[in-house]
Amino acid sequence: MNFELLTLDLATAGHEKCNVLLMLLPASFKPGQNPLSTLIGKALKSGDLADKPASLLDIYRPAGLACDRLVLVQLGDAKTGNIRKGVQAAIALIKPAKPKHITLCFAQAPDGQALHVAMTTLAEASYVYATTLSKAEARTISHVRVGVPDRAALAAPFAQTVAAVRGIELAKEWANRPANHATPSHLARAAQALAKSPRIKCEVLNLKDVHKLGMGAFMAVAQGSAEPLKFIELHYKGAGKNQPPVVLVGKGITFDSGGISIKPAAEMDEMKYDMCGAASVLGVFKALAELQPAINVIGLIPSCENLPSSRAVKPGDVITSMSGQTIEILNTDAEGRLVLCDALTYAERFKPLAVLDIATLTGACVIALGGVRSGFFSADDAMMAAIAKASESSQDLCWPMPLDDDYAEGLKTSFADVANVAGRPGGSITAAKFLQRFASKYPWGHLDIAGTGWKSGSAKGAKGATGRPVGLLLHYVLSFQASAA
Ligand code: BES
Ligand code: MN
Ligand code: ZN
Repeated sequence: MNFELLTLDLATAGHEKCNVLLMLLPASFKPGQNPLSTLIGKALKSGDLADKPASLLDIYRPAGLACDRLVLVQLGDAKTGNIRKGVQAAIALIKPAKPKHITLCFAQAPDGQALHVAMTTLAEASYVYATTLSKAEARTISHVRVGVPDRAALAAPFAQTVAAVRGIELAKEWANRPANHATPSHLARAAQALAKSPRIKCEVLNLKDVHKLGMGAFMAVAQGSAEPLKFIELHYKGAGKNQPPVVLVGKGITFDSGGISIKPAAEMDEMKYDMCGAASVLGVFKALAELQPAINVIGLIPSCENLPSSRAVKPGDVITSMSGQTIEILNTDAEGRLVLCDALTYAERFKPLAVLDIATLTGACVIALGGVRSGFFSADDAMMAAIAKASESSQDLCWPMPLDDDYAEGLKTSFADVANVAGRPGGSITAAKFLQRFASKYPWGHLDIAGTGWKSGSAKGAKGATGRPVGLLLHYVLSFQASAA
């Protein structure tokens, strides 16, 4: 999908040649003196364009205008929720006609956030997964011209959103691929492909390397599968050598059967999404490749399958993590925290400004927050504030969760320094408390995206990766650039 930003007012929008001209109209819009304005004025006055947000009016070959089709979109108060609903409704309406060229026109200047929401919603609504279909229906919307009253004023947020969309779509692509088309080795190759871009380097560690590092927790998860594990390390260097990096750690379980503590068969296929955290890290690097900002970012992806076999780790086994802490693996289905804890220890060597891990970590987080907000955990006030800001500006929302030490009580055991599970209550928090033990050397945060990284469902089209939280992560890492300037 190609995006282009241009200056359009209601007079010039009338000359836009395109399959569909989508006019976004806030309730406060005041029509002027040109054919398009006159038409809009009449549509509003007659009530044919209702004042309810996300109301549409569809006009075929409007007289005096150059577009094939004009769709008026009522935005009401033009808050981001209504922009999202309006664009979703408009794309659902025009999609069956398979339009190629769309002009998305703002009757009144949006701010950066409104522009971001409109563009990411349009991309989301027009996305189609094609990779493993023999006769895929390709995406039809190929060119999107975004019209705003003053192009120059929005050039920066526009570029950032275009990059975010590229990253989101890469993340969706990898998360949607079935586990046999998205193995740890495939992910490693995807990361290496990103390293063809300027300022990006990639290194992939194999079993021998992680063994030498002492990553006993990561290896324990991987040992049940014949598929070789990969520890992927991405570096984006946009700032000076002395500028410490932000480290993003993505859970890369390409399939989570639960291991010996095997999951029920129903919906087990959905555990191909257990690498959404890893996919979001790849997505951020894709966006960084496009934007080339003046920051340093490192991405770490511990990736493997979690399968049962005669070689698989067993409930009750005690292993030694890279940190030296021993772990009693009481439930092999709590594997995410095991691969992440060694990556968190590994991150110490970069003397990072901050480390943020992203993981489809717990079913408990799905119960707590559903698919609207990711769970965010951090004991660092600066990080909490920066993430809250990024959540708001990207509208890729998260919500603060607690880290009281009392939640760690259930992780105590007589047979190791720590157990990998506590009881069911507060399951997303006890998982975060486990991770926190391995992240004491730097400001740390944890995003549980089990509910937000993908959508469950059986109907065609309903199930799929969301590309979240690439938008949130991109806004977060770019905030380090803003503070340096
Ligand atoms: N990958 C799952 C978490 C998950 C569940 C993500 C549902 C998305 C949807 C994770 O590895 C897991 O199995 N967690 C267990 C932890 C439990 C054994 C303490 C869970 O949430 O049930
Ligand atoms: Mn699991
Ligand atoms: Zn998992």
